[in-house]
Amino acid sequence: MNPALQTALSELKSHHTDAAVKDLRAAFAADPGRATRFAAGLDDLRMDYSKCAVNDETMRLLAELAASSKVEARRDAMFAGEAINSTEGRSVLHTALRAGKDADIRVDGESVVPGVHAVLDAMAAFAEGVRGGTLCGATGKPFTDVVNIGIGGSDLGPVMATLALAPYHDGPRLHFVSNVDGAHITDTLSGLDPETTLIIIASKTFTTIETMTNAATAREFIVSQLGEAAVAKHFAAVSTALDKVAAFGLNETRVFGFWDWVGGRYSLWSAIGLPLMIAIGSEAFGEFLAGARAMDTHFKNAPVAENLPILLGLLGIWHRLICNHPSRAIIPYEQRLSRFPAYLQQLDMESNGKSVGIDGQPLETASGPIVWGEPGTNGQHAFFQLLHQGSDVIPVEFMIAANGHETQLAHQHELLIANCLAQSEALMRGRTTQEAHAQLISAGASEAEAARLAPHKTFSGNRPSITIVYDRLTPFALGRLIALYEHRVFVEAQVFGINAFDQWGVELGKELATALLPVVKGESTGEGHDASTLSLAKTILAMREK
Ligand code: F6P
Repeated sequence: MNPALQTALSELKSHHTDAAVKDLRAAFAADPGRATRFAAGLDDLRMDYSKCAVNDETMRLLAELAASSKVEARRDAMFAGEAINSTEGRSVLHTALRAGKDADIRVDGESVVPGVHAVLDAMAAFAEGVRGGTLCGATGKPFTDVVNIGIGGSDLGPVMATLALAPYHDGPRLHFVSNVDGAHITDTLSGLDPETTLIIIASKTFTTIETMTNAATAREFIVSQLGEAAVAKHFAAVSTALDKVAAFGLNETRVFGFWDWVGGRYSLWSAIGLPLMIAIGSEAFGEFLAGARAMDTHFKNAPVAENLPILLGLLGIWHRLICNHPSRAIIPYEQRLSRFPAYLQQLDMESNGKSVGIDGQPLETASGPIVWGEPGTNGQHAFFQLLHQGSDVIPVEFMIAANGHETQLAHQHELLIANCLAQSEALMRGRTTQEAHAQLISAGASEAEAARLAPHKTFSGNRPSITIVYDRLTPFALGRLIALYEHRVFVEAQVFGINAFDQWGVELGKELATALLPVVKGESTGEGHDASTLSLAKTILAMREK
């Protein structure tokens, strides 16, 4: 670890022990300016982090940590197209996917922007053709249903965003198949009419076994009813591996490419976003890109103290490396963001779930936290008990829109807002045993009863949360929110000292699955596998043969 970073971390640790905020209630009582000082914003997006146990000195030390981790220099290198994905020797340019036409971003001396816009234009022509019914199936009927087949980054982003932007959805119905479990594609295709169904095969590598297997099943669904010639009309593909796509027999006007400098989990802005574009239209998709671009510009230019992704990243580091909290909960008070936590799980944990640094040496600190969550208010009736009174402290990131789309149900939205704010207040304030005792007495409990129950009704408080508020979940707001989290993951990776853009950790399981398939089929005795795995395979095989 570089000595400046080591010093910054040990200063933060001493500060945490000696001088950080220990009592948030008292901190708010003592400082009327706390809520405005520990907050930052970009247009209607506001991030309140005053309910984290930080003070001015904490933020100064965290800014020093950012400087010693060279966050800004690394950010500039990323935006400039340097090959910062060192283990794969690639640039990292998802930001180029949402850059304006006049931007000049180069890889190996060549501008990538014209290519990006050429694909966006081709996607728009295709998407509008499908939406308008001018691009039809083999029997001349317009498409009523679109099925996206992909997994990981080729699925989670489109699923999450299509759901998030349901009020803007005016195209054909969208369906997503990811799991190799045959139940997923069976349940999805049942009830669909092949004549009016368009299938998109989305895979960066065009080798992922789940996607290729589901694609073959979908092909059979089309061909069995419409014949082989229908494939050209009923399939489109999105990939960086255009040679492999060609072998599938697709019409090349329905193949949309992207580039190896786009990571799978950062690819929603590329042709991987095609299902979203078909759902909401190319204009709204343009607004979605513009939202991300606004966050890119902010990330590039805002000073550290006002820079939302840097602040969010530094607070993540504070909670993970200094306070030692092992996980973080993402709780959108927005039902349509119900897949956002799952999307962030891949974005964050596939990026920062590493144990070696860029130099290949074991990390001297922890790395990324466990990310999980569910929308509020549902989570309140499931796991919030643990958030409030469990033995682990779990920092929470709340999200809430000032306005819902259901203006006729404004009273429901008010209830949603009140719940969101109440949860962050309760986590921060807690309730002392004396307060619990007094409340019980005033509700008519006897002294003995109050003494018995008060410990159960005591909340420690001092549980940190960040609240992100925005006006309404528009395509622009969603693009901006996703880009905020993308850059946050990047900032944290710089402090951990890891490459956030590879994912070697998913390879071993894939290799072993390939090796185990003949054992599962009963075609091999599976020499070399451990006894537990072989015994499980044997037990399952026996059940299958019954
Ligand atoms: O899970 C590993 C992974 O490589 C992800 O990074 C990626 O998003 C996913 O598989 C799907 O890959 P592809 O788009 O190449 O099918």
